[in-house]
Amino acid sequence: MSLKKIITIIGARPQIIKAAALSRAIREAYADQLTELIVHTGQHYDENMSDVFFTELEIPKPAFNLNVGSGSHAVMTAKMMEGLESIFLSEKPDAVLVYGDTNSTLAAAMAAAKIHIPVIHVEAGLRSFNKAMPEELNRIACDHMSSLLFSPTKAGLENLKNEGFDLTPSKKAQINHPNIYHCGDIMFDNSLYFSDLSEEKSSVLEEHGLQKNQFILCTIHRDSNTDDIRNINAIFRALLEIQSETNLDILLPIHPRTKQKMEELLDRTLLEKITHSKGIKIIPPTGFLDIISLEKNAKLIITDSGGVQKEAYFFKKPCVILREQTEWIEIVENGNARLTGANEKLIVQHTMELLAKSDFSYPELFGNGQAAKFICAKILEDLLC
Ligand code: UD1
Ligand code: UDP
Repeated sequence: MSLKKIITIIGARPQIIKAAALSRAIREAYADQLTELIVHTGQHYDENMSDVFFTELEIPKPAFNLNVGSGSHAVMTAKMMEGLESIFLSEKPDAVLVYGDTNSTLAAAMAAAKIHIPVIHVEAGLRSFNKAMPEELNRIACDHMSSLLFSPTKAGLENLKNEGFDLTPSKKAQINHPNIYHCGDIMFDNSLYFSDLSEEKSSVLEEHGLQKNQFILCTIHRDSNTDDIRNINAIFRALLEIQSETNLDILLPIHPRTKQKMEELLDRTLLEKITHSKGIKIIPPTGFLDIISLEKNAKLIITDSGGVQKEAYFFKKPCVILREQTEWIEIVENGNARLTGANEKLIVQHTMELLAKSDFSYPELFGNGQAAKFICAKILEDLLC
């Protein structure tokens, strides 16, 4: 079989991290059959939101960076589509691979599908059932433009079935009859793979004076939390209350969007209290090895991140999810995480309850850490055969 070429699209922080797993699988087991070109849309561009991951996770440097930067949804998506179409036409890949549900995902899927380049969607089928989330629109549209869909969970597979997809694979996957697989989560592959390296290399606990199991890790970036004046104030009031009630440190690696919105929208007295609180430590976004160390050593995690709520489960930590719904419903149903939205009372109440609880179970919900190799095998067998 001749060497097949795929273009992988990345843009936002979690996609860069996800790319590490697939690039590693290609390098280790499929280098004689698959070649991968990485294209960065430039959706995330700060050093600590992008470059840091290429170095520490050994991800091949992008062959192209569109440098689209920030903007409204339409502006970003349009700029990305224009740049990507031109690269697809000149590079002539056999397929385009996209991750997740960001504007970069949607732009790439749409640009490729319309010029008949097959799309591979990794993290397919996930639904929050809340179309007010930009990500929900991106996911649904992308799934329906793809030829090969990989769902990390069984719930994802069910969602696709309910949307009318036929789950029986055909001999050759194509847009009008895509092949769909439940394959586990490539982020679980990554968390297992980088866990030991994180122990060896990360000194983040010492840098911030944190004791194992004596702090809460928190991340916030969802637009419904950061851009809504009531919600952002309620979340920070809850953090202040939790810190004073528990006396645990709260470490908050801050997403650039949240940093801006705190300045803009937080009540001045609350902002003062947060800024001067000894127990609430706000730090720049960390690299992946550091965040793994923080996740492994935290007592509890409070987050609105899709990735971080799952990683809480991977590292067996209870999690308060600052959202009304989650695509990762299994971890809520299994009792490991609680949904609170931006409700101050619920955030405090569920944090206290989870801190007091000890009977957690962690069944294997996200595969066996080999999702990336499975994905490569199916790309070759079903799509590029
Ligand atoms: C995006 C994704 C979201 C994903 C998140 C991961 C969409 C619609 N949203 O949200 O699904 O969970 O990435 O982190 O695609 N900014 C910087 N520097 C950067 C990047 C962003 O300052 O390197 C600031 C800019 O002010 C920008 C804002 O953050 O306007 C939001 O960035 P954007 O990429 O639009 O959305 P995210 O909230 O990061
Ligand atoms: N992450 C990181 N440094 C941070 C915060 C998060 O490396 O300071 C990692 C995190 O471990 C996870 C991914 O970024 O793998 C999640 O990205 P994010 O929360 O930005 O987006 P989401 O997963 O919600 O789309």
